[in-house]
Amino acid sequence: MKNPFQYGGVVTGDAFCNRVQELNDLMRAMENSDKLFVYSERRFGKTSLIRQTFEKLPQQEFVKAYVDLWPTDAETSFVTTVAKSIAESMSTTTDKLLETAKTPFSRLSPTVTVDDEGKPRMTFGINKDFDLEIELEQVLSVPAKLADKSKKNVVVVFDEFQQILEYGNDTVERRLRSIIQNQIDVSYIFLGSRKHLIQKMFLDKSRPLYRAGGHYPIGPIAVKHWFPFLKKKFLDSDRLIQDTQIQKICELTEGHPFYTQHLRHALWELCEPATPVTEEMINSALDILLERESYAYTNLWESLAKNQRRFLKGLASEPVGVKPFAADFVSRFELGSASNAQRAAEALLEKDVIDRENASFVIVDRFFRIWIQKTHLV
Ligand SMILES: Nc1ncnc2c1ncn2[C@@H]1O[C@H](COP(=O)(O)OP(=O)(O)OP(=O)(O)O)[C@@H](O)[C@H]1O
Ligand SMILES: [Mg+2]
Repeated sequence: MKNPFQYGGVVTGDAFCNRVQELNDLMRAMENSDKLFVYSERRFGKTSLIRQTFEKLPQQEFVKAYVDLWPTDAETSFVTTVAKSIAESMSTTTDKLLETAKTPFSRLSPTVTVDDEGKPRMTFGINKDFDLEIELEQVLSVPAKLADKSKKNVVVVFDEFQQILEYGNDTVERRLRSIIQNQIDVSYIFLGSRKHLIQKMFLDKSRPLYRAGGHYPIGPIAVKHWFPFLKKKFLDSDRLIQDTQIQKICELTEGHPFYTQHLRHALWELCEPATPVTEEMINSALDILLERESYAYTNLWESLAKNQRRFLKGLASEPVGVKPFAADFVSRFELGSASNAQRAAEALLEKDVIDRENASFVIVDRFFRIWIQKTHLV
């Protein structure tokens, strides 16, 4: 029997838990042609949520373009990636795809191939006379033209949007700012991790996209939403779990979708059909996962300066939301001064070990938090 708990990739259908409110809010945003920055910590389920939202939007009323910017590293690949996604969202057959792409993207010499699953795939050749400003302008003007011609709602999602910070200049950001202001019939959704997207692009006055649209943070999945999902998955596979145990699993990983699912996956592997889950099994599942990571965690720990370790110990031993620059925290965890604590926090943020959360910080990797508790807080 297949393990019902998936972690890592995009989850859809039965494997997707709740997010009812978020789905509704995003659907409304897309219907209203809103421009929205959607952000969360890493692996909170942004991509899965957007895929799920797309599934719900009726095909006859929406053109939905999903642009994954992860593989792009410069403006040129941005242009071709966007063109490809828009063309593919407009048509599903090979002939039609080429036809669709011919006019708006003619300067990019489109060709169509068929992939292993029989789906048409678009590729572009870059001409000698490729002019970035012109191509960018052209490609990004297509969604508005499409909305006008098709009379459908057009939605463009940029996933891993923080990738444009790697391009070396802000041409794309500047161009997008004017698009956001002028394309009133197209919805643009920008997905990214909090640190990059929000701190660097949206809240920095000197950046072109400073407060250019609405913003929508995605939180963890609440225990009350995990409950029915988890119960059903255990019951359907003839495994018996108690409510207090579900509660414990969610608390261990603070409802973080990826780590919570990962832990359940490991736990489910230890369960026999028709046998109750025990406390020991939850602990063993956790130990297995920590054991797998222990080499990496030890290396990471050893690479950190003394005050950074002390800061992490403090975060790991205190409830979420603790104020780590307060005198009490600073003295209990021997940080010397608030400015020492601040320097440690800055360094850990830079390394992506922690992230900001409501005037406090969280340890990004929830298993690393537990590892610190078990290994360094005795
Ligand atoms: N609604 C959900 N129901 C069940 N599991 C979920 C849900 N959302 C996220 N997950 C879990 O989190 C993992 C990561 O999801 P996803 O890739 O959608 O997140 P992401 O925020 O796009 O991640 P990244 O920051 O890496 O782009 C999934 O593989 C799954 O284990
Ligand atoms: Mg993602």
